[in-house]
Amino acid sequence: GKLLRVAAIPGDGIGKEVMPEGLRVVQAAATRFDIDLSVEHIEWASCDYYAATGSMMPSNWKSQLQSMDAIYFGAVGWPATVPDHISLWGSLLKFRREFDQYINLRPVRLFEGVPCPLSNRKPGDINYFVVRENTEGEYTNLGGVMYPGTDREIVIQESVYSRYGADRVLKYAFELAAGRERKHLTVATKSNGIAISMPWWDSRADAVGDNYPTVAVDKQHIDILSARFVLQPGRFDVVVASNLFGDILSDLGPATTGTIGLAPSANLNPERNFPSLFEPVHGSAPDIYGKGIANPIAMIWSGALMLDFLGHRQAHDAILRAIEAVLRDGPHTPDLGGKASTEQIGRAIEQLVLEGTASS
Ligand code: NAD
Ligand code: IPM
Ligand code: MN
Repeated sequence: GKLLRVAAIPGDGIGKEVMPEGLRVVQAAATRFDIDLSVEHIEWASCDYYAATGSMMPSNWKSQLQSMDAIYFGAVGWPATVPDHISLWGSLLKFRREFDQYINLRPVRLFEGVPCPLSNRKPGDINYFVVRENTEGEYTNLGGVMYPGTDREIVIQESVYSRYGADRVLKYAFELAAGRERKHLTVATKSNGIAISMPWWDSRADAVGDNYPTVAVDKQHIDILSARFVLQPGRFDVVVASNLFGDILSDLGPATTGTIGLAPSANLNPERNFPSLFEPVHGSAPDIYGKGIANPIAMIWSGALMLDFLGHRQAHDAILRAIEAVLRDGPHTPDLGGKASTEQIGRAIEQLVLEGTASS
């Protein structure tokens, strides 16, 4: 088949620990399914690189990545040495913008074998997608501090929503919902308090939704929606949200499924004008870095999403079956109450992918 070129960017902290396990499993799937894969290992887009050079990335970063089929990304951030807004706007947030990865697709699923912090929930009860707008909204640098250092100090930071930007993420979410069994879409807004942009967002959902008569739409204010993630997770099938609301929901959702160490994400440019980026939802976890105990499954599942997006559904499915088996039978990392290391989990999943004996 066609050669797939993937840029591997581990970044910082546990990004550097989970990346080798992600690659191990992606390579195993490539071997088993005869996928011609070449991985380019990239040291920049990290706080180490920043410490050495004074910037997060080389000036030709875009041309280096543009021709790749995908970017496989660990996590960036080492706040002890580089302020988070510098490291993140200098790497990940730049990729999302400049490669127009306007969909951030984040599955939330309760697995067999994983203790659920909510009472009386079993696998199957929690199974939804957060579709997060990924290029605009609350994430802007429009604004500033006025009269700094005085007691009249004022800070303003704008949110920006475009019809183009809202409609395309809504369309993606409706399409996703229309293709699912339940055909249910929750629209996260806050149209009581945020009285300009959020009623507008609801009206765009109505307009786009006119083309999807089979999809049931449930508009919810973000506050009660968050409560229902905890109290009634079975209500949700596909949830579409602005950038910041989607960010928050996509940590909360995985928390209700036992650990954020499982949660993957796909930062997609669906038109494929630019490479898409696949990464765990979690960050660099400085508090556990260096111990070899980070859960690599979010990274590994993100690798499966990458292979699926690149046209290898079978490879995706094989990895998912292997993840399911390891979550069900062990071993487990400490975030799931176990004693296994990051590498042991990676090797266990690799083995099952190579053998192809895992069943769902
Ligand atoms: P975090 O996700 O790094 O960690 C939050 C908590 O979850 C920590 O207690 C951590 O130990 C735990 N955790 C996270 N991933 C885990 C895993 N795979 N296995 C086991 N436990 C895990 O969030 P934070 O502490 O807010 O941020 C730390 C740094 O990461 C900051 O610099 C932040 O900006 C950055 N960050 C980066 C990304 C990204 O690159 N996509 C995402 C979130 C945060
Ligand atoms: C995420 C992260 C990033 C975000 C941070 C690190 C800028 O939390 O991918 O969820 O807010 O998008
Ligand atoms: Mn986040």
